[in-house]
Amino acid sequence: MSSITASRVLEALGNVMEPDLQKDLVSLNMIQDVSIDDDDNISFSVMLTTPACPMKDHIRQACIAAVRERIPEAADVTVNLPARVTENAAHHGHGNSAPLQSVRNIIAVASGKGGVGKSTAAVNIAVSLAEAGANVGLVDADLYGPSIPTMFGLENARPEIREKKIIPIEKYGVRLMSIGFLVEPDNPVIWRGPMASQAIRQFITDVDWGELDYLIFDLPPGTGDIQLTLVQTIPVSGAVIVTTPQEVALADVSKAVNMFRRVNVPLLGLIENMSYYQLPDGSKDYIFGKGGGAAFARAQAIPLLGSIPVGGVIREGGDSGSPVVAGQPKSEQAKAFAAAAAELARQVSILNAQASHGAASGGCGGNCGCH
Ligand SMILES: Nc1ncnc2c1ncn2[C@@H]1O[C@H](COP(=O)(O)OP(=O)(O)OP(=O)(O)O)[C@@H](O)[C@H]1O
Ligand SMILES: [Mg+2]
Repeated sequence: MSSITASRVLEALGNVMEPDLQKDLVSLNMIQDVSIDDDDNISFSVMLTTPACPMKDHIRQACIAAVRERIPEAADVTVNLPARVTENAAHHGHGNSAPLQSVRNIIAVASGKGGVGKSTAAVNIAVSLAEAGANVGLVDADLYGPSIPTMFGLENARPEIREKKIIPIEKYGVRLMSIGFLVEPDNPVIWRGPMASQAIRQFITDVDWGELDYLIFDLPPGTGDIQLTLVQTIPVSGAVIVTTPQEVALADVSKAVNMFRRVNVPLLGLIENMSYYQLPDGSKDYIFGKGGGAAFARAQAIPLLGSIPVGGVIREGGDSGSPVVAGQPKSEQAKAFAAAAAELARQVSILNAQASHGAASGGCGGNCGCH
């Protein structure tokens, strides 16, 4: 039998702080399944609140260092990092009759004006989160110009109906729904405001989503009545604003931020798209000006989730039905989207932890087990 005990392991891990909190992993109840074998190999799990946690490596290294320092006779130290995504409180008690028991977090992706890369961001974030191991759904809420079918190469896909529920179409691990799957492209439907919000509601109530950690809504461009109604129709946990550097100088993006503030939807972050062009020598050409997104985010007290470079790979991926994070995962653009997706997941965890524990909690941990 090993002379190392589980309590010594816990004592060591009691010195590891969750990066976004000022609390240790043991007090937060994040450590599970401590085991020590006869050869002094130690293993344990750190339960995270998102599989996309950008702090994963940091947490693993800090755990290994703490155990090695305090238990020098340990052989191998194995840290498992499973995740259980926390649930947003926003959709409980929401006025809608349809409860969304199986959907933990609803994220709206919006922009001040059209063509800034909102759908591109929504798609690549969804695929990134799914690749990280989360259960992800994506709704194309643009009834007038649905783009999700093309971006996933599913122009001719038609969903199955089972027991009066629409089965979402799944690709790259993401469950998808778009009006483009239901109507013929050459037979466009004219949506009036109430019909549009009814259709969007049905994307929640009449679709068999199953268990979802994140359901992402790609909103239509702008901040008119339709967008406002949609935001009030769906029980949104938080919003992501997509902008280009030059747009931040305009009033449009502030309007989008103000719309969400007015209806008390938390702003999870800003993505600056088309931020720069990466030159072959590795330097960056800030064709639309430098730092606009970051400055705007700071001024509005919104986290900057990421800055995405301009690149032909994005448009080609969108046109060919292969989102850049899946088709060209090594490209700068894919890495930037994956990092933005991880940062978004972290912000969702922070928001959920704050809602259940008060402002001191947050991060990819904070799973104190007391709720
Ligand atoms: N970083 C980028 N580099 C190069 N091309 C990009 C980038 N981001 C988006 N694009 C291209 O710009 C076009 C518009 O992007 P997208 O459709 O995502 O914008 P949108 O904001 O959703 O537009 P809409 O307002 O019409 O819904 C697409 O052809 C897309 O491939
Ligand atoms: Mg779009």
